[in-house]
Amino acid sequence: MNIKSFVIYCSPSGTTKHVSKYIEKTLKELNSDIFIQDIGKERNRFFALDQIKAAKEKICLYIGTPVYAGHAVLPVMAFINELPETITGFAVPFATWGGVCSGVALWEMGEKLLEKGYKIAAASKVGAVHSMLWQSKTPVCLGHPDTDDDKLIAEFVIKVHKGLSEGNLRRLQLKDLDYQPELLGSELKKTSINNLMQMLPERIVNENKCTQCGICMEECPADAIDMAPYPMFGENCFGCFNCVRLCPENAIEADLSAINKHIKMRKEQINEFPLTMAFFR
Ligand SMILES: Cc1cc2nc3c(=O)[nH]c(=O)nc-3n(C[C@H](O)[C@H](O)[C@H](O)COP(=O)(O)O)c2cc1C
Repeated sequence: MNIKSFVIYCSPSGTTKHVSKYIEKTLKELNSDIFIQDIGKERNRFFALDQIKAAKEKICLYIGTPVYAGHAVLPVMAFINELPETITGFAVPFATWGGVCSGVALWEMGEKLLEKGYKIAAASKVGAVHSMLWQSKTPVCLGHPDTDDDKLIAEFVIKVHKGLSEGNLRRLQLKDLDYQPELLGSELKKTSINNLMQMLPERIVNENKCTQCGICMEECPADAIDMAPYPMFGENCFGCFNCVRLCPENAIEADLSAINKHIKMRKEQINEFPLTMAFFR
């Protein structure tokens, strides 16, 4: 079967990009036709959607998100919501998570993809250093994704590609992605990624430190910052904290001590294992 692969992702701190690039590399080695795009920014999202709409072949959509508060991030869910309906498309959702809880990200992506008519070929969660803990000396999942994770990703892509080419891949059902313990899973399904911003610490721009260099604006994956003349956060912000992390003057201030403590406590409580795994039937 002639299949075009799309690798679509959002990756504020680079881990989901790393996984996406690994998927791309593996697919190239398999001589697959590929389109890859980071869709954090709205214009990139629309561009990627146009490429999918224009595809003449059957498509396999690898779609990757970081997990934020147990959910897929807003640009990824917006992308899935805006996908055209299909009767022939396959999808492979994947999520990178910081070792605390991979939540219901794969499940909610799977649910929407199925609604759009995609068959879920497989899915994967990949353990990754926790992107909120850059100030910590001992961030959760430091060193991940490592070479073993990369190996698993490559094997996973080869298996999907082979199954699709030979037409013998058994598709996943939504219940296969509903793997959290019942109570945790049902609690997370009641919450939404839209609640995230209220859970995060406030950011304050210190105008005495800010040199108006614009790095925060350039590095914002959602184009959510305007210099007016100091950084102002708009409604596209989905809470990645790149602006705080990447400001060379530390001029965007946020007290992360409480959230860092909370993250480590939740990790101990939830103790989700394994870090990286593939879901197949
Ligand atoms: C605002 C925020 C919320 C997060 N929430 C979770 C979470 O609920 N569970 C978890 O395991 N990791 C969580 N993480 C960590 C990210 O999922 C993880 O580091 C991911 O690999 C980052 O992907 P990226 O490097 O592509 O941005 C969170 C990170 C941020 C910034």
